[in-house]
Amino acid sequence: MNSFSWRSESDESAPSRLSPVDDRLTADAALRRVRRGEHLLYTGDFQNAKQLLAAMGRRLPAPTAARSPLEAFRAERRARQLEHETLSRIVVALDRSYRLELRRAPDVAEACRWVWGEPDADKTVVSLKTLIGMLGAAEWRRKGLSVPGLEGKIHPHYGVYLPTRTDYVELLLSVTDVKGKKVFDVGTGTGVLSFLLLQRGASSVTATDCDERAVACARENAERLGLSKRFEVLQGDLFPPGKADLVVSNPPWLPEPPKNRVDRAVFDEDNRFLLGFLEGLAEHLNPGGEGLLILSDLAVLLGLRSAEWLDQELARCGLVVKWKKSTPARHSKAKDKSDPLHAARSREVTTLYGLVPAPEQKSS
Ligand SMILES: C[S@@+](CC[C@H](N)C(=O)[O-])C[C@H]1O[C@@H](n2cnc3c(N)ncnc32)[C@H](O)[C@@H]1O
Repeated sequence: MNSFSWRSESDESAPSRLSPVDDRLTADAALRRVRRGEHLLYTGDFQNAKQLLAAMGRRLPAPTAARSPLEAFRAERRARQLEHETLSRIVVALDRSYRLELRRAPDVAEACRWVWGEPDADKTVVSLKTLIGMLGAAEWRRKGLSVPGLEGKIHPHYGVYLPTRTDYVELLLSVTDVKGKKVFDVGTGTGVLSFLLLQRGASSVTATDCDERAVACARENAERLGLSKRFEVLQGDLFPPGKADLVVSNPPWLPEPPKNRVDRAVFDEDNRFLLGFLEGLAEHLNPGGEGLLILSDLAVLLGLRSAEWLDQELARCGLVVKWKKSTPARHSKAKDKSDPLHAARSREVTTLYGLVPAPEQKSS
């Protein structure tokens, strides 16, 4: 294939050469070839291609044994990264109308248009693994997702944080005093927290997200829910300009480097988001205003932050906890005993902190 448009989620550069392969390729042979650096362009049957990926995945090394939760966590991330790098070398080609040129292939055109817009070349090449992820996401977007306390559904877009962990959403429902309040939502994702607050009587929300996909997703959801007149979303870093009565945020909760675009919803290198939020909160609050910070303690359980870290940072930023409410994690990973991180995940607690500026000290 001479020229094609290359699509990647991890900024991997376009392959210089594609080696056509088909259903005769075994998983062992595929692994040998991708480990030598080849990109294999699958031209056979779609279902067989999916089975090939699964068989290759089963042959990859399990995470190395770990002596601590942090070692287990990092070994797990390394294993996922290796899996991604290896399996992403099985690629497929789409034609000018995003038709997948494989036997028994599903219609992928709508999913592709949703993520990339109109085709910009005669051929588009993407890893099969990414395409399968896009198909799953398109299904969520079509069906929508019910969220406790929200009237109507959230229709998530590909690559935008999916509010399937409802424990943190339920925490926000305990905030009763939102009527007439002007709200900021920092890192809005699908916009779910904004919409809950708007439906409970907030007068307006200005939301931000650094990711253009999240911005488009939140905007579309606001329209679907009939809330767009009171909802504005800006693409940008942390706070919108100005001040609000309530500033809500569910930041990425693990202080480790993100490895791809989607990771930025979960991984916050050097606590940049969280520290920026705490440092900037007071100056973005109207008098009597309150910050609503949602934070899991998984980072503490993994040894990525000390138990005292948050209190120290709150004090440094001149903030106090006016109230807090916690809930144990109820997501499926917290119950999975085969997960190497089960010990930490089963103890995970998510807390909603009501934060206010510390009262000024009177000098004597
Ligand atoms: C854990 S997700 C929460 C999304 C949504 N608020 C929710 O509760 O479902 C964190 C969000 O913060 C966004 N984000 C990460 N860094 C950011 C930054 N520096 N400024 C604004 N948004 C950011 C991510 O793109 C992601 O949508």
